[in-house]
Amino acid sequence: MLGRHSIRGFQSKSVPDALLKEVFELAQWSPSGTNQQPWQVYVASGETLERLRAEFVRRTKEKVPANPDYKGKGRLKDPWKARRRDCAKVLYDAMGIEWEDMDGRSQAAFRNFEMFDAPHVAFLGMDGSMSTSAAADVGMYAQTLMLSLSAHGLASCAQGTMGHYPDLVRETFAIDQDIKILFGISFGYEDKSHPANLARTVRATLAENVVFMA
Ligand SMILES: Cc1cc2nc3c(=O)[nH]c(=O)nc-3n(C[C@H](O)[C@H](O)[C@H](O)COP(=O)(O)O)c2cc1C
Repeated sequence: MLGRHSIRGFQSKSVPDALLKEVFELAQWSPSGTNQQPWQVYVASGETLERLRAEFVRRTKEKVPANPDYKGKGRLKDPWKARRRDCAKVLYDAMGIEWEDMDGRSQAAFRNFEMFDAPHVAFLGMDGSMSTSAAADVGMYAQTLMLSLSAHGLASCAQGTMGHYPDLVRETFAIDQDIKILFGISFGYEDKSHPANLARTVRATLAENVVFMA
């Protein structure tokens, strides 16, 4: 658990097919409500990923509006807003970007659409008829998958930004329109020389999140 961190700089080297299968086989053991296993996972590699990456980059550069299947609900309040700011600051500090450097910050954000040079991206979705509880199951799957990746010496970064253009993902994988995309996970081998990978987030004290009552 403590060995996993979000990694935002990958080597170009692909993960061998046998290892990929082992990692994803293990993630299948994630729990879900009444064992429905609502996660639908689409893993892009090789030419498929390069085409997707180029199109994500093009749309972002040309400011094509994001059209996520699941939209945020209004403005973020504290303490969550402050935690989001702290998380960004940790990344900018690692990359040597000043808080006031808006260009530097947008370049760092743009790295999302280059998928941090990852050789693989898993897009996580579920049937649109399903509700919040299924989305929670997909989230649980995501953590199980990231821990499975870690346990196999692989690095990852969950990316909400991979939900910006779900139409593109559906088109690429010829997915039914009923399948909605929640987010993506870039993964592969860490590029240990990339400064972004020095970023380490913290966590709130236990008392802020957990109540024990006997
Ligand atoms: C659902 C989800 C979406 C995320 N989206 C992004 C993203 O779009 N870009 C990014 O750089 N990091 C993203 N992250 C990574 C978080 O910023 C990161 O998990 C958090 O700051 C805690 O840091 P850690 O993963 O190193 O422990 C996402 C994480 C999750 C779980």
